[in-house]
Amino acid sequence: MPKIKSKSKLRTALLKLQQEKLIRDKRINNNIRDNRNHTGNNIIGRNTSKAKHNKGNDKNVKILRPRPPPYKQGESILLVGEGNFSFACSLAEHILTTGETITATSYDNEELVYEKYEDARENIKILREYGATVLFEIDGTLLEKYKVLKGKRFDKIIFNFPHVGMGIKDKDRNILANQKLLQGFFSSSSKFLKSSVLHPAEDVADGEIHVTMKTGPPYDEWNIRKIAKSTGILVIKETIPFLVDQFPGYQHRRTLGFKDGMSKCGNEEKGGGGRFSNTGN
Ligand SMILES: C[S@@+](CC[C@H](N)C(=O)[O-])C[C@H]1O[C@@H](n2cnc3c(N)ncnc32)[C@H](O)[C@@H]1O
Repeated sequence: MPKIKSKSKLRTALLKLQQEKLIRDKRINNNIRDNRNHTGNNIIGRNTSKAKHNKGNDKNVKILRPRPPPYKQGESILLVGEGNFSFACSLAEHILTTGETITATSYDNEELVYEKYEDARENIKILREYGATVLFEIDGTLLEKYKVLKGKRFDKIIFNFPHVGMGIKDKDRNILANQKLLQGFFSSSSKFLKSSVLHPAEDVADGEIHVTMKTGPPYDEWNIRKIAKSTGILVIKETIPFLVDQFPGYQHRRTLGFKDGMSKCGNEEKGGGGRFSNTGN
């Protein structure tokens, strides 16, 4: 500590210390805010004895650096429950730079998609130009019933913000309905994942299911982790932050469609993303 000779030097030294403290506090606050944004982004491994699973409180997981988007060129991707197809479109345009390995599906029929989401037509046009397969009326809980998907296996199966959207007012019934949706989706989609265990001759890597979900009540009560585990073949590998800016053009939409005055614009409802793996059982 240097010897402080005068009052003015003391004042300067104090000011410097205060400034340093302010910078330190700001950094800490930013970190807290950052981690809060990422709440619920669990990091979980494959269900093998070797895998290190995150059994701790997910809310304490510290994500210090944003990661690149968890998709890369060459991966075959199935999208379930698309709204206005903007996520699929963003994947094709900005991440994979092709749509040829993308199968993007909606639960609604084509007419209803255009009725609910006025930007869907343009997104679908772009997707098709990029070579993507676009399918309508695909129930994510019954994927086995579609001939067009028969024999297909994917690197990634994505369901962003799953929701039955039936306007069920009763909280418990609402949660149950969405849990059923997730359970059906997991049990059906897991059969369409690549698996180096089940298909060693063809699949080098194991596929993943990505489910992006809001965090906090009531979504935490859906207990997605338990539902994945209850399938007996899936475990949450990890939960990563859903960094919406990594997907330019993606506009989250509600199940009911975009209604002026009723729906939130853009991505106000963004949240965390869970990743699940097929254990090959
Ligand atoms: C909250 S919206 C999210 C839409 C879109 N994924 C997004 O991120 O903007 C929920 C979506 O789940 C779809 N959905 C509900 N039940 C489904 C099911 N059984 N199979 C596939 N999609 C379903 C709805 O049609 C709706 O598009």
